[in-house]
Amino acid sequence: MPKMTFLERNGTRREVDAPSGLSVLEIAHKHGIDIEGACEGSLACSTCHVIIDAAWFPKLAAPTEDEEDMLDLAFGLEKTSRLGCQIVMSDALDGLIVKLPAATRNAAG
Ligand code: FES
Repeated sequence: MPKMTFLERNGTRREVDAPSGLSVLEIAHKHGIDIEGACEGSLACSTCHVIIDAAWFPKLAAPTEDEEDMLDLAFGLEKTSRLGCQIVMSDALDGLIVKLPAATRNAAG
């Protein structure tokens, strides 16, 4: 089974099983990783924002225009930002590394 690694906000690396066909958001939820995903993958929020490791970014399918529009609203956008619900795990992505954005709407304090 493919695996992927989440880099959490406190710097913890979490390597987890990442079944093909599940989105990065679904994988995060399965393992209790703190990505909100308020709209559950229907491209109506940007709370599933993740930052893709630079080496992995070019290997992902290009974002749709709808994803890019939503990403523009994400807080702390970086060059390799994507929406976690739009990245579907496959064998080709075995070893994928994504970082959780440092700031969220709730972390201002
Ligand atoms: S969960 Fe809302 S856009 Fe991904």
